[in-house]
Amino acid sequence: MKLIALLFLCSRLLPTLPQKYNSQEIDCNDEDIFKVVDTALKTYNERNQSGNQFVLYRVTEVIKTENPDIFYAVKYEIKEGDCPVKSGKTWQDCDYKDAEEAATGECTATVKKSEKTKFSVATQTCQITPADGPVVTPGYECLGCEQPISTASPNVERVLRYAIEHFNNNTDSSHLFSLKEVKRAQSQVVSGWKYEVTYTIAQTNCSKEKFLFLTPDCMSLLNGDTGECTDNAYIDLQDRIASFSQQCDLYPGDDFVLPPPMVCIGCPREIPVDSPDLEEPLKHSITKLNAENNGNFYFKIDTVHRATSQIVAGRRFSIAFTAKETTCSKESNKELTASCETNKLGEVLQCIADVVVVPWMNTVDTTVNCGSRGKILRLARPPGFSPFRLVARKTTKEGTTKHLKLCEYKGRRLEAGAEPAPENESPNQRAVSPRLIQ
Ligand SMILES: *[C@@H]1O[C@H](CO)[C@@H](O)[C@H](O)[C@H]1NC(C)=O
Ligand SMILES: *[C@@H]1O[C@H](CO)[C@@H](O)[C@H](O)[C@H]1NC(C)=O
Ligand SMILES: *[C@@H]1O[C@H](CO)[C@@H](O)[C@H](O)[C@H]1NC(C)=O
Repeated sequence: MKLIALLFLCSRLLPTLPQKYNSQEIDCNDEDIFKVVDTALKTYNERNQSGNQFVLYRVTEVIKTENPDIFYAVKYEIKEGDCPVKSGKTWQDCDYKDAEEAATGECTATVKKSEKTKFSVATQTCQITPADGPVVTPGYECLGCEQPISTASPNVERVLRYAIEHFNNNTDSSHLFSLKEVKRAQSQVVSGWKYEVTYTIAQTNCSKEKFLFLTPDCMSLLNGDTGECTDNAYIDLQDRIASFSQQCDLYPGDDFVLPPPMVCIGCPREIPVDSPDLEEPLKHSITKLNAENNGNFYFKIDTVHRATSQIVAGRRFSIAFTAKETTCSKESNKELTASCETNKLGEVLQCIADVVVVPWMNTVDTTVNCGSRGKILRLARPPGFSPFRLVARKTTKEGTTKHLKLCEYKGRRLEAGAEPAPENESPNQRAVSPRLIQ
C-alpha cells in the first residue's frame, strides 16, 4: 500500500518541461549529450538485476534548460545487447542482440549537470518492449533530487497564491502587491514535496485600506514598487502547506524620482542603468557607503535599479541600487576590489545615492542613504526546513533549448562503408566522444 502511494506521488513529479523553449537541432557531436545518455543508460542497466544490458540505439529528443542549474531532458531508444548485467562490462562493450530476439525500449530521463562535468540522473522512465509483445516496466525515480518543474504546475500555482497572500499579510506597504512573472520553479521529493519558486511582484492600485485581498480589479501600477522573491514551501503528505519561508528584495518605484512632467532642460532625466556615465558616480557611491557603514565587511553594488541625471552646476545623478555584503573584511583588505565576492548570507541594502560631479572643479559630492528593506522579509526558517538558497538570485532570462533531430549511436558496430575510428584515438577517448550520427 505504501509503495503504491509512493509511486503515485512520484508520478506527479515526472518532469513537466517548461513550455517556452528555443528549438534547435541536436548536435550529435556534442559530448555532453552523449554523456547525459550514457549516464542515464548506465544507471538503468545497473538497476537491472538480471537479463542483458541495453545498448543505445538512438537519441530522439534533447531539451536543455539552464536556470541556473543545467538540466537535460532526453528521450532515447535502446535495444537489448548481448552481454548480461553485472558482467563487469559497460553497455558500450556490448553488441546488439539479433533483432528478432532483442527487447527494445524507449527511455525518458532528466539529468542534471553539475560542477563542470558531473552528470546525475534525476528521473528516468523506460518502457521496454520484449521481443514478443509490449510490457511496461516501472520507471526509476530519484527521490530527493531537486528538479525544475513547469511554472504552470498546479502545486506551483498554489504555492504562488499562498506566497502573494503571505507577502501582502506581512508587509506594511499601503497597497497590495500582485504576481508579475514566475521566473522558475523547482521541486524536490522529501516525505512530501519541497518547492522553490522565484517570481517578481508589482504594486497594484488596490490600497490595503479598501481591499482585504486581491481582486481582478487590482491592476499593477506601471511605476509602482516592484520586487523579486524566492520562497520555499513544503507541502506535507496531507497536502497542506506545512511550512513556508519568503525572501524578497523590494525596489522602490517612482516615489524616489518623479519623472519630469515635460521636457525641460535641467530637469532630472532617466538614464539607462548600464550607462557608462554611471560608472564614476557608482564608484563614488559604493566608496562612500563603505566609509560610512560601520560593518566589518565591504559592500558591493549588486544591481542598479534606476538612475536619473540632471544638469546643474555640473551633473547630478540620482541612483537607486542594491548593495550586498561581500566576504572581504575591512580589516584585511584596504579597499573593495573586483575579486570581493558577495556573501550569500550577508546583509542586503537598498540605497539611493545623490552624486554631484563638477568636472571643471574636479569635485564630486556624494550622499548615500541605505535601508535594509530586503531584510525585513528574511523570516526565520521553520524547523526542519532547509531552504536551498537564502538569498534571491538574479539571473538573466532563463535559457531553454530544445534539440530536434535524431542522433543514432554508431559506437561499436561500424557498418560497412563507415570509416574506422582514427588511429590516434584511445579507447577511453572513444567512450567520451561517441559516434552519434544524424
Ligand atoms: C531487465 O532486462 C530484461 C531484458 O534483458 C528486461 O526484459 C527487463 O524488463 C529488465 N528489467 C527491468 C527492471 O528493467
Ligand atoms: C492572510 O490573512 C488572512 C486574514 O487574516 C488569513 O485568512 C490568511 O490565511 C492569511 N494568509 C496567509 C498566507 O498568511
Ligand atoms: C485599478 O485600475 C484599473 C484599470 O485602470 C481600474 O479598472 C480599477 O478600477 C482600479 N482599481 C482601483 C481600486 O482603483
